[in-house]
Amino acid sequence: MSSTSTAPPSSMAPSSVQVRNLSYFFGKGDLRKQVLFDISLDLFPGQIVIMTGPSGSGKTTLLTLIGALRSAHEGSLQVLNKELVGLGNRQLVEIRRNIGFIFQAHNLFESLTAAQNVEMAVELTGNFRGKRAQAVDILSQIGLAERADYKPGALSGGQKQRVAIARALVNQPQLILADEPTAALDKQSGRDVVTLMQHLAEEKGCTILMVTHDNRILDVADRIINLVDGRLESDASPQQFVDSHTTKALDQKMFIM
Ligand SMILES: Nc1ncnc2c1ncn2[C@@H]1O[C@H](COP(=O)(O)OP(=O)(O)OP(=O)(O)O)[C@@H](O)[C@H]1O
Ligand SMILES: [Mg+2]
Repeated sequence: MSSTSTAPPSSMAPSSVQVRNLSYFFGKGDLRKQVLFDISLDLFPGQIVIMTGPSGSGKTTLLTLIGALRSAHEGSLQVLNKELVGLGNRQLVEIRRNIGFIFQAHNLFESLTAAQNVEMAVELTGNFRGKRAQAVDILSQIGLAERADYKPGALSGGQKQRVAIARALVNQPQLILADEPTAALDKQSGRDVVTLMQHLAEEKGCTILMVTHDNRILDVADRIINLVDGRLESDASPQQFVDSHTTKALDQKMFIM
């Protein structure tokens, strides 16, 4: 692991996510099971960090803790300069407003068109006038201009996923958490989505933490962190990650864009 791979873009930049000695357990009593062990991690503005790891290693659990979707009890978890450990539900809801979530369950409103689903997110910022233009603009960036006025029932799984992505990103949240965002997408759509994310990271300084097994998009990452059995096994640049994994494990053919 080199010192450059995990360093912030500027040595003075404060981290947007600071995890210290975070452990997490599911269940109580005899059923209590530890799924995260002593995780420490910093994510910085403008960084795209990919999280990989075997099924059941705790990736989604870590993502939902950072996203204030469940409460952490042990260790420290600072997100956008707020300590989440010990916060009540109402305060956690407040934190979530600044985070863009891309999870697999789309949760689109079936009675609204693609554009209207995205517009709802824009309305939360109080911007009613420009909402249609913003919605159509972001949908166009991910190849859905022609589907803007379709309802989810008339869209494919990948198109619905892209509407959900547009809705999560339209307000340019400071922190974006994504769980397998490109899994249901073809190569070009997946590329459009990561290009949009790169734009948000580079131009707006958004921090992006993305769980993915999609080797086609590893190249967008500034860092790749690997979670194994609830422990942070490595934190490296994409090149170091590729070098330290077998060709078979990576499916190098997929990695070449
Ligand atoms: N609500 C829950 N109650 C109890 N155990 C859970 C719960 N959610 C997840 N777990 C367990 O915690 C561990 C980590 O699960 P998690 O969903 O974080 O894994 P993951 O790395 O996201 O896996 P995948 O790649 O399959 O999505 C697993 O052993 C899982 O069975
Ligand atoms: Mg998961």
